[in-house]
Amino acid sequence: MDQQEYFDKLAQAVSQLTAAITNVSLYPPTHPRVAPYIDRTHESLTDMLEITPQVMVLLIDDELVSSNRKIVLPGSAGQVFVKILKKKGVESISFITGLPRSHLEDLIQGLASTDAKALRSTSCIKLGKVEVAGGAAKEDEGVEEDEALRKKTLDEEIREFNDYREHGLSSMRDMYNAIKQGERMDIKVIHSIVGEFVRRFRREMNPLSLLGQIKNHDEYTFVHVTNVALLVMCQAEALGFSGANLHDIGVAALLHDVGKLIIPETIVAKPSSLTVEEREVMEQHATLGAQYLISQKEIPSLALLAALEHHIKFDGTGYPAIPGKWRPHIVCQLITIGDVFDAMRSRRPYRDAMPMPEIVNIMRKSSGSVFNPMLVDFFLRLIER
Ligand SMILES: [Fe+2]
Ligand SMILES: [Fe+2]
Repeated sequence: MDQQEYFDKLAQAVSQLTAAITNVSLYPPTHPRVAPYIDRTHESLTDMLEITPQVMVLLIDDELVSSNRKIVLPGSAGQVFVKILKKKGVESISFITGLPRSHLEDLIQGLASTDAKALRSTSCIKLGKVEVAGGAAKEDEGVEEDEALRKKTLDEEIREFNDYREHGLSSMRDMYNAIKQGERMDIKVIHSIVGEFVRRFRREMNPLSLLGQIKNHDEYTFVHVTNVALLVMCQAEALGFSGANLHDIGVAALLHDVGKLIIPETIVAKPSSLTVEEREVMEQHATLGAQYLISQKEIPSLALLAALEHHIKFDGTGYPAIPGKWRPHIVCQLITIGDVFDAMRSRRPYRDAMPMPEIVNIMRKSSGSVFNPMLVDFFLRLIER
């Protein structure tokens, strides 16, 4: 199946799914006006899931997107599906290998139902939701609960998350020091930090509440990479990535600046702006990082790519200079967003931290040049909740 066939199949699956949802509000799922649509959706998705472990459809700016490409549906099916997703507050749907037909049936009934609780993720269908303050659909709408108690629990969980992050930071510091002294990188440390982040993260947590602050000048690099990992994992989770994919994304984000360990400390930790020559040396951290990771064992290939591509902008400029119209991997585009955001919000010896409205303004202005417009918009909504 080539790329075009893949996207044709996806468009077919989504339009069959839309037909099933609209018809299931009139007939039961076993009815001949519904069942064949479910069968065809299931068939197309199963074919696709044979060549990829996950098929993700995102709703970004009223458009359906998959693997960074717009999905074009025949007739009005696209508009109808977008309307259904918006009404339910669903921002992404991920279909995962092994998808049983019954899960698809549940999704169709959930999307057609007026009962908010009828729509939920299953082991093979993950629904991503960003709940914008004052937004329409909330999963817990109508459910009576003790708000104060719920809030306190969430606050406690955030506090515990932050306590763990400090522990993760000290593991990163030890690992960085060991690498600087020529020891091999212990990838188990990275896996354990990412695993704990995934385990402790709740979708209701605003990513900004999880970030660490730089207390000493020399701890910038490992506080920064940890913050970037958190920002990227929050984006990826909200976009519907899960399981091993989400874990690898966290590992890649945590290692994106590993090349800085090879750059002289006098440049990395210079307390003032870099000269042109120093900047050229500093920019080598991307290729040096990728080369370093190639020499290590059991590193996900995504981490190599992230180290190499995280300073390549959405429009193909940046560094390292790669000829042709190079578009970074979608995960590297997420890392670029987290990377630039954290750099601007951090206080450095040669400048203060930027105020949030200024950061948001710069990020919006860089939409389409530095950042993927759809992803940066998604990110800003995520942190502005
Ligand atoms: Fe970097
Ligand atoms: Fe970075």
